[in-house]
Amino acid sequence: MEGLIAPHGGKLINRVLEGKEREDAFGRSKELKKICLTDREISDLEMIGIGALSPLEGFMCKDDYHSVMDTMTLKNGLPWTIPITLSTSTEVAKTLKEGKEVALADKDGDVLAVMLIEEIFSHDKEKESIQVYGTHEDKHPGVKKVHDMGEVLIGGKVSIIKRVNHTEFKEERLDPLETRALFKEKGWKRVVGFQTRNPIHRAHEYIQKCALETVDGLMIHPLVGETKGDDIPASIRMRCYKALIENYYPKDRVVLAVNPAAMRYAGPKEAVFHALIRKNYGCTHFIVGRDHAGVGNYYGTFDAHYIFDEFDRAAIGITPMFFDYTFFCKKCGGMASFKSCPHDSAHHITLSGSKVREMLRNGACPPPEFSRPEVAQILIEAMKGAAQA
Ligand code: ADX
Repeated sequence: MEGLIAPHGGKLINRVLEGKEREDAFGRSKELKKICLTDREISDLEMIGIGALSPLEGFMCKDDYHSVMDTMTLKNGLPWTIPITLSTSTEVAKTLKEGKEVALADKDGDVLAVMLIEEIFSHDKEKESIQVYGTHEDKHPGVKKVHDMGEVLIGGKVSIIKRVNHTEFKEERLDPLETRALFKEKGWKRVVGFQTRNPIHRAHEYIQKCALETVDGLMIHPLVGETKGDDIPASIRMRCYKALIENYYPKDRVVLAVNPAAMRYAGPKEAVFHALIRKNYGCTHFIVGRDHAGVGNYYGTFDAHYIFDEFDRAAIGITPMFFDYTFFCKKCGGMASFKSCPHDSAHHITLSGSKVREMLRNGACPPPEFSRPEVAQILIEAMKGAAQA
């Protein structure tokens, strides 16, 4: 599509079969060995299919897998920071053959795709934990996932037969082709993408609006794939985003769409990954604030900024917009950051995620300097509902 940013690798991948090709693959799949995918593998599969992970056409083979860990690039040299892998047990792997097809199914056994197995290789969990997450501690949720995965990885191109039948967020479930068409229709040339796995509080709103001052449009692109247990469920978050947009955002300059990815909590590595995904959706800019995609104290507050210096910016393509730690300053009388506010932190209103959760559980409203009342209200009601359930 002319005028829009090129997808990563130059071409938007489409691995969703249609018509006769789909029918043929579906017919063949009935005779194939079936592998049941985890939730994360299903969202990766879907994202490969619709081009959100362009240039990937399937789950990674050994060279790409190691190259991503060793050099933060695919074997063809393109920046890439997170392994996209399909794992299985040693026993199941023994029944598979390179060069043969396998059917990829959901938990109910419904076939979603076929995959031509290119390579069956060993899952280097220790290396992946250290190189991608920076730790081998099981209490890191991303590392725990790696440890829970199978011992063997299977790489190869996938062909989707059936799209996942999502019941939630139907209107906001836009594929890269659709967001690209939407940006074009709106005449937006410069679009900033915003990743989040949280309700949008004033700090998020501030950095989004600062970014929006310099571009044509904002895509709020919350992650709705798998997150860790204590993150606020996507269905509640979506109500918050809608209330916020309704009351505080210029509707003609904002698109709300969902990112089907699973959260890795890989901090800096995931920040680059998040940026590349948004490039595929057509964003020219991407917001990276403090401790992006972080968890616990595993990453430095601005590691997700510094990592971009390790790449040739042209190869990344999408422009990161970095933001310092932001808050409401009582002396400034508004939102600010450590970059723009001269006052002592005693004047700043900052609340940790756990403090906010505790307030909400007790039915207390976080102050309006922290969260818009419409958002706080939705969260309080949701917390009450969860406590009664
Ligand atoms: S994330 O795991 O999806 O990155 P979160 O939803 O908390 O988590 O953050 C979304 C984006 O807002 C990230 O880019 C993050 O760095 C940024 N962010 C969150 N809170 C702040 C803050 N107080 N100041 C600056 N940036 C922030």
